[in-house]
Amino acid sequence: MLKPQLTPLSQAYIKHQSTMQAPMIHNDQHQSQGKTALGDRIMKVNHAGEHGAICIYTAQIFLARLTAPGLVEELIEFRSHERAHRAVFDAELQRRGQAKCRSYHVCGIGGYTLGLLTSLFGTSAISATTVAIESVVLRHLQQQITALSSGNVIDTSAINAIKIIIEEEQLHHDHSARHCKADGFWSRLLGPIVAASTETVIWLGMRL
Ligand SMILES: [Fe+2]
Ligand SMILES: [Fe+2]
Repeated sequence: MLKPQLTPLSQAYIKHQSTMQAPMIHNDQHQSQGKTALGDRIMKVNHAGEHGAICIYTAQIFLARLTAPGLVEELIEFRSHERAHRAVFDAELQRRGQAKCRSYHVCGIGGYTLGLLTSLFGTSAISATTVAIESVVLRHLQQQITALSSGNVIDTSAINAIKIIIEEEQLHHDHSARHCKADGFWSRLLGPIVAASTETVIWLGMRL
């Protein structure tokens, strides 16, 4: 199990980024400003989302000790990844001179509430929640990369920050999918609700 700290990959990324003075944007000033704004906004949303994920796992770890003890070790490991992801986006926001997203604390409170509710019902409910969230998150991460790479404007530092977390988000999805059936009760009940909630949070975050 990983210790709850930055992975070497994330540490190297943050160290590298801290030495840079400005986002690596390639284009004329007008387009660069637009693309920088998109990159800034995406970094804020992702930073808030990682905070929400940490709160979900924190709540689930708290109750899973009673309702799903076999899952606790894995949840602690997942939370350590999410802490590293948040640190990646935090470093990127600081380097860009950007504040947290206004949705940051809403994500935290919502995440903690979702984590508590779902962990009442044990392993399948907890895992179905993770699968639903990560399915939405992974799709959005790919869309973000496409948006930031489109045309002749490339926000390289934002793209790199996203790419660095995808493998672990996929791991969270795949490992959780082993603990719940796609057509099981909790997946069918929680899947659409959690997916819609995640979509809504991302949608709001992009507009706040
Ligand atoms: Fe994450
Ligand atoms: Fe995750």
